[in-house]
Amino acid sequence: MAGLETIYMGIPLQTPLIVAASSISSKIDRIKTTEQAGAGALVIRSLFEEQIMLDALRMEDELAVGAESFSEALTYFPQIQHGEADEHLMWIEKTRAEVGMPLIASLNATSPGVWTKYAKQLESTGVDGLEINVYAVASDPIQKGADLESALYQIVEAVKGEVQIPVAVKLSPYYTSTANVAAELDRRGIEALVLFNRFLQPDIDPETETLKNEMVLSTPEEMKLPLRWIALLYGRISSDLALSTGVHSGLGAAKALLAGATVVQTASALLKNGIPYLSTMLRELEGWMDERGYDNLESFRGKMSQKEVDDPFIFERAQYIKLLMDQK
Ligand SMILES: Cc1cc2nc3c(=O)[nH]c(=O)nc-3n(C[C@H](O)[C@H](O)[C@H](O)COP(=O)(O)O)c2cc1C
Repeated sequence: MAGLETIYMGIPLQTPLIVAASSISSKIDRIKTTEQAGAGALVIRSLFEEQIMLDALRMEDELAVGAESFSEALTYFPQIQHGEADEHLMWIEKTRAEVGMPLIASLNATSPGVWTKYAKQLESTGVDGLEINVYAVASDPIQKGADLESALYQIVEAVKGEVQIPVAVKLSPYYTSTANVAAELDRRGIEALVLFNRFLQPDIDPETETLKNEMVLSTPEEMKLPLRWIALLYGRISSDLALSTGVHSGLGAAKALLAGATVVQTASALLKNGIPYLSTMLRELEGWMDERGYDNLESFRGKMSQKEVDDPFIFERAQYIKLLMDQK
């Protein structure tokens, strides 16, 4: 039987299939089911910068009210202690106590700020690693791309300065030079890059002329974007690479590993097919490895990366010239 063990961010994992940050981690029973099904690790849904900022604002308001009416304004403090951010931390501690597999906390970041200190508090819950989820739509026409990148590096440096546990950065695919951003992050000592985050895409209903903001799950087709970037970056940076978006099967996981992924992350496939489907994905990956005589993941990881394939330009080709010429 093929061995599926691997090491991700310095953490030994039983399998390369990680449950991506999602609603799956909001119930302990579900998390335990992922562990039984063979997940290598699980990323807990993010603690969002907005949650932390909201708590801080509430605290300021409460203290201001208290200061006006009572001298012992700090008696208001306990009321605020159980804010959303603190609840999230308590929830992770509880999960850590009940689950054996590696757990990775996730911190959502959109701008540099003192709130990055929450990284330390997430670390103190006993998680094995921390994923920084840089999730923001760059909608401000005044803000330059270079400034956004510099803000990203500031966040990463601040978080790296706070914690001892390994840190991964989950990027959006919308940087002008993804390869340069990856190299800059790598230079700052992150342990892994997660490619990519997937934005919610608002839609318009032409019948009712209203906005729709539904959560639409990914499709396997969407995997091609991160697949290309994993293949391009494999062997060029030292951080581990996690492929996220569109992994819906064991063969999908095999493709990601061939491109050079250290691990894959999956959420939509489990939300669509149920959590036990994770074991079906693992069996499919094992079967594929057995058929080819691959004893372990190392024997084929990166085999189809840009560095290894015969036609390395295929990953850089952006236009369809050849395909269009062939159709003439
Ligand atoms: C219901 C749901 C909740 C999610 N919550 C988070 C989150 O809290 N933090 C995060 O970084 N990504 C979150 N994601 C994004 C997933 O981690 C993942 O990157 C994305 O769904 C693409 O992977 P998939 O194709 O396997 O679903 C969420 C996705 C879903 C479907």
